Amino acid sequence: VPVRLPTIAWRDGTVQLVDQTRLPADEVLLTCRTVTELVAAIRRLAVRGAPALGIAGAYGVALGAATNPADPLTGARAAAQLLEVARPTAVNLAAGVRRTLAAAVDAAEAGADVTSAALAAAQALAAEDAAASRAMAEHGLPLVPPGARVLTHCNTGALVSAGEGTAFGLVAAAHRAGALRHLWVDETRPLLQGARLTTWEARQAGIPHSVLPDGAAGSLFARGEVDLVVIGADRICADGSVVNKVGSYPLAVLAHAHGVPFVVVAPTSTIDLGTACGDDVQIEHRAADEVTSYAGTLVAPPGTPAYNPAFDVTPARLVTAIVCESGVASPVGAGTVAALVVAARAGTTS
Ligand code: MRU
Repeated sequence: VPVRLPTIAWRDGTVQLVDQTRLPADEVLLTCRTVTELVAAIRRLAVRGAPALGIAGAYGVALGAATNPADPLTGARAAAQLLEVARPTAVNLAAGVRRTLAAAVDAAEAGADVTSAALAAAQALAAEDAAASRAMAEHGLPLVPPGARVLTHCNTGALVSAGEGTAFGLVAAAHRAGALRHLWVDETRPLLQGARLTTWEARQAGIPHSVLPDGAAGSLFARGEVDLVVIGADRICADGSVVNKVGSYPLAVLAHAHGVPFVVVAPTSTIDLGTACGDDVQIEHRAADEVTSYAGTLVAPPGTPAYNPAFDVTPARLVTAIVCESGVASPVGAGTVAALVVAARAGTTS
């Protein structure tokens, strides 16, 4: 797999993905020929991360249309129904699906080609995401102090985006600007997105980094070795609370206790002004065996129940800044978050 292979691409009527479950050991492409295959890929995290889920969902609607040539609009509608609920927490997935379906419906009403319209909408979404990556890195750079030792969680680079990513995009820009001393990578239990994927991306970018067990973050703060926390988001609610990979909230509490800034980088497509606060977000709970086994081997007595939420909620008061493609919200609250969305719609900077 070439390094800059797009994380998600449309090829000859199929959706191609880098299979993230196989990284870092195997760099292989997964070809989804049907919507059912794409939904399965999303569920098992072969493609994952909020912006990438939006793009995958959008291509999936086009796939639904393309695989039902007798009635592409019905195919697109059926695809949308399956895709928008494939995973519940990242708002980008349902938003990408709905936007693409709307383009398909408009095309049908105008007597235009439904599949081409859906595909064009998906490609536009991907292009916007790539542009958002660049803008977020630019807006976030002033928040990275010289010689920063940055702690991040989960995976937020090119694997989750059509561009260089969200939090990782900022880290990579800071590295190029000479502002980054070290990247601390939380391993991100239980599926190890940090250990498997972020280290893979950091190595490719030549960024000095170390992986740590999630539980070691506390001692790292206590030793004064973290200057900044930078993470992404799966959904940002109207009150500025941030839903992200489980383990983000403990980092925010630690950062607050140690006086370290906690910065969230996410495109405005991740802001959901229709959801008031974190309590209203459906948090995905995943299978117990993700916790009770490791690489296929049981690590707990058979049948041990598990608490395995995929995400947690960080309240706005613990978030120093939210960086979007339209600017920076700081302090974080309902007004500043809404202003980011308004600026994005108007094409201005907040
Ligand atoms: O369960 P995942 O791997 O899809 O969770 C991904 C995350 O939590 C990321 O941090 C989030 O999507 C932001 S990436 C832009």
